[in-house]
Amino acid sequence: MSRQDKIKRLVELREEAKLGGGKKRIEAQHAKGKMTARERIEILLDEGSFEEFDMFITHRCTDFGLENHKYPGDGVITGHGTIDGRVVYVYSQDFTVLGGSLSETFAKKICKVMDQAMKVGAPVIGINDSGGARIQEGVMSLAGYAEIFQRNIMASGVIPQISAIFGPCAGGAVYSPALTDVIIMSDKTSYMFVTGPKVTKAVTGEVISTEDLGGATVHTTRSGVAHFKAEDEEEGLMIIRKLLEYLPQNNLEDPPVTECNDPSERADDSLNDIIPEESNQSYDVKDVIYSIIDNKEFLELHRHYARSIVVGFAKFSGMPAGIIANQPNYLAGVLDTEASRKAARFVRFCDAFNVPVVTLVDVPGFLPGSAQEYGGIIIHGAKLLFAYGEATVPKVTVTLRKSYGGAHDVMSCKQLRGDINYAWPTAEIAVMGAQGAIEILEGKKIAKIEDEAERKEYISERESEYIEKFANPYEAARHGFIDDIIEPRNTRFRVIRALQTLMSKKDLNPPKKHSNIPL
Ligand code: HXC
Repeated sequence: MSRQDKIKRLVELREEAKLGGGKKRIEAQHAKGKMTARERIEILLDEGSFEEFDMFITHRCTDFGLENHKYPGDGVITGHGTIDGRVVYVYSQDFTVLGGSLSETFAKKICKVMDQAMKVGAPVIGINDSGGARIQEGVMSLAGYAEIFQRNIMASGVIPQISAIFGPCAGGAVYSPALTDVIIMSDKTSYMFVTGPKVTKAVTGEVISTEDLGGATVHTTRSGVAHFKAEDEEEGLMIIRKLLEYLPQNNLEDPPVTECNDPSERADDSLNDIIPEESNQSYDVKDVIYSIIDNKEFLELHRHYARSIVVGFAKFSGMPAGIIANQPNYLAGVLDTEASRKAARFVRFCDAFNVPVVTLVDVPGFLPGSAQEYGGIIIHGAKLLFAYGEATVPKVTVTLRKSYGGAHDVMSCKQLRGDINYAWPTAEIAVMGAQGAIEILEGKKIAKIEDEAERKEYISERESEYIEKFANPYEAARHGFIDDIIEPRNTRFRVIRALQTLMSKKDLNPPKKHSNIPL
């Protein structure tokens, strides 16, 4: 073969590999409203930046006639490229090749990019679309999954790991995405479950559809397994690109600071009026978030899950930060089991990757009741407390209104190493609300007042007295638990200056093997 023929042969082999499972299967993939593994990579990465690994690899299985069915690349496209000029590693499962099922070779390809990403210190993005373990390969396939899991675990908190689910992801296969930092699911074309509808019916008798058991809506509203539901794959891929704008390449770097055209001293008078006159009335904390961040750009995670707390990324004068905010217009912003878990995971995500945390507090307390107690609110609330107390990133807290009881302590208070704790003049920082307090303190006395009007007046007077004395920020400020009481309109400027001041902050936890966070 001449040199020219050899080069021609390479080009032909590449073209063959690019076809994956063949034209028919590509058409079938498109007919389902799905892109191919390569098309997804193309959209995800900067144009022309993709460098592929292991395009010519094939499986080694000789059972069930598979020896006659070899596809170059073996069903997963792997390699690296850039997103906004920064290196990322990527793997994209190709459903057109044996249903994207995972073989020994397939797993090795994924492990290779994960290993290199760890050496280089760059994020890994996994695009999942697979029928699970390649049945013909038996335990080799199970071992392959475990190799990936182990790498997910070692990479956790070292490099960002992001999972897109754009098709089936079932059985033990779900555990690789579950070990990563963020999961994005495409609406109607993806699902995740440990056991599918057929096994569910056989074992429990429950009849349920694939979508209702593990679709994007379920996992972004009920289980909280996924952080984003994307309308389509393209939107999902754009979310990944956006997410990386807030994250460093690895845990030894700081998140990238960018130029900002939104003035840091921009004041907003509407914030002075945002807290309703009546303490039991609600407002949308996202109005506060949008007002204080750069250019109203907020990337919210878990938007439809545990909505009494809001978490997401934004920038303050170009500096990335994670925002955690109680949401008064959903269940009054109460902390329940789900909200606690959601926020705790987010605080740890930020802390692992050196992203400062800004907390906006308006919390009436923990949700009372047997459902919460039986559901383990003690343990789940402790997760959030633990996450804040353990975090060493800059922590800026602004108490907007209520900050009662245990929830006050949990929400990044001074003693949990809050670096700068501000409060608005509308803040109410106390052990409990006026009604509960007066009931406990004066209950016996109140019971003895027979005349109803008299009793009501007495209660109202005592409550007003309590509110005057305790439901304000000055008592906490007097003790130095609040560093300053700020005018709401100036919040953006004050938070930016706090974050700028804290940029060089160093804080350490004592040496240990690892903590024992109440899981
Ligand atoms: C080998 C597989 C496969 C698998 C699909 N294919 N899944 N080959 N191993 N796991 C093949 C099919 O035989 C078919 O080949 C092609 O891929 C496309 O599959 P279809 O069934 O035609 O596609 P579709 O109708 O879209 O259905 C997709 C599917 C279904 C729902 C994913 O294929 C399916 O149920 N697959 C099996 C899923 C499963 O039980 N996997 C094992 C789970 S246990 P041909 O040549 O006919 O077109 C597991 C354990 C992991 O994963 C443990 C980790 C610890």
